[in-house]
Amino acid sequence: MTAQRFLTGITTSGEPHLGNYVGAIRPAIAASLAPNVQSFYFLADYHSLIKIDDPARIQRSTLEIAASFLACGLDPQRVNFYRQSDVPEIAELTWLLTCVTSKGLLNRAHAYKAAVDKNAAAGMDPDADVNAGLFMYPVLMTADILMFNAHKVPVGRDQVQHVEMARDIAQRFNHLYGEHFVLPQALIEESVATLPGLDGRKMSKSYDNSIPLFAPRAQLQKLIAGVVTDSRAPGEPKDTEGSALFQIFQAFASRSETLELANAYAEGISWADAKQRLFERIDREIAPMREHYQALISDPAQIESILLEGALKARALAAPFNATLRHAVGLRKLSSVAAPAKQAKAEKSARPAFKQYRERDGKFYFKLVDARGRLLLQSSGFDSPKEAAQTMASLSAGGAAALADQAAGLTRPADVSAAELTQALQLLASPTL
Ligand code: TRP
Repeated sequence: MTAQRFLTGITTSGEPHLGNYVGAIRPAIAASLAPNVQSFYFLADYHSLIKIDDPARIQRSTLEIAASFLACGLDPQRVNFYRQSDVPEIAELTWLLTCVTSKGLLNRAHAYKAAVDKNAAAGMDPDADVNAGLFMYPVLMTADILMFNAHKVPVGRDQVQHVEMARDIAQRFNHLYGEHFVLPQALIEESVATLPGLDGRKMSKSYDNSIPLFAPRAQLQKLIAGVVTDSRAPGEPKDTEGSALFQIFQAFASRSETLELANAYAEGISWADAKQRLFERIDREIAPMREHYQALISDPAQIESILLEGALKARALAAPFNATLRHAVGLRKLSSVAAPAKQAKAEKSARPAFKQYRERDGKFYFKLVDARGRLLLQSSGFDSPKEAAQTMASLSAGGAAALADQAAGLTRPADVSAAELTQALQLLASPTL
């Protein structure tokens, strides 16, 4: 069985937080350990340009996300771990795919539509503040996936539509240029929790409610103290349902630990104690990796070389595939050029032709003229059209050989050389292109 290829990208737009860890980093590393799986994890820095125009932030985020994956146990020897912009074949593939993508498909992408709807609601121009990068986002993502012919793409729900678009675009390309691409499938890990943030909404950079993955111990404790709770006093039973604190705990704890906390809730644990338990539980998992992270982040050159090595590995796959795709669409060396279609057409129209007619003497004649109407061969009169037709047929079929048959009473004008006439008859006899 050939290995299934799993691929996923992480946009380098900010500092990784606990939500990224639970939702993406941890499951990705677990999946990379499965047998018969070839994994591709990359830092989607081309993508980050769509929403971030702060170069230092992109650089910083790339470093932090790379260090986080490594600190959490990703083995760059085992997987393909690279930075998207180190593989320029992806940018080139984006263009090839752009040219087979209907604009209407992109008009329907959720992220773009949301921006348009927001503008419409505000009474603004539909495309106000929408850059073309946002519009093209799904094509770039498609190139990420198709470049390595990934079978499975583990993503969050919000990305499923993009993977479906990748299928559509792959299908269209295959239809036009041959079966080059695997049709990828989104993989939504149902068991992976979306982590609530400090305010109870989904943990996200844009809600400003996140807890940095590698916040120092003291900061982690302080942030957890800020997780939203209700106003129930110590001793009062608490609801696990709808408790952000409980949900975060669950994402880190075993079943039995989770049950224990549920019991403590029922018995009226104070919010302060519950927060302390949450802090200790998270810290137990994160602390060993935090040390590793600190070591990595203080040595950016080492991370750089790991990423460059990953890019070499990725390009060893991407470059030959890119060459195949370039050839498929017609970006080709001229040395092996095939007879161009246009010239073939010109040759066809330059063919000589027979013209038949009847003279006043009642006999049937024909002449051979070239494409410009110049006379190449003149027949004498035949008694019936059938005889004329038979002679024309033998000329077409036999070409030069038939010429010798002077009995047919054919005359070559003085200004037409024998070679010219032979060539014309050969052209007449050659199959139509
Ligand atoms: N768009 C993805 C996100 O925001 C990141 C991403 C970029 C990606 N390219 C990808 C995910 C390719 C999977 C496959 O989460």
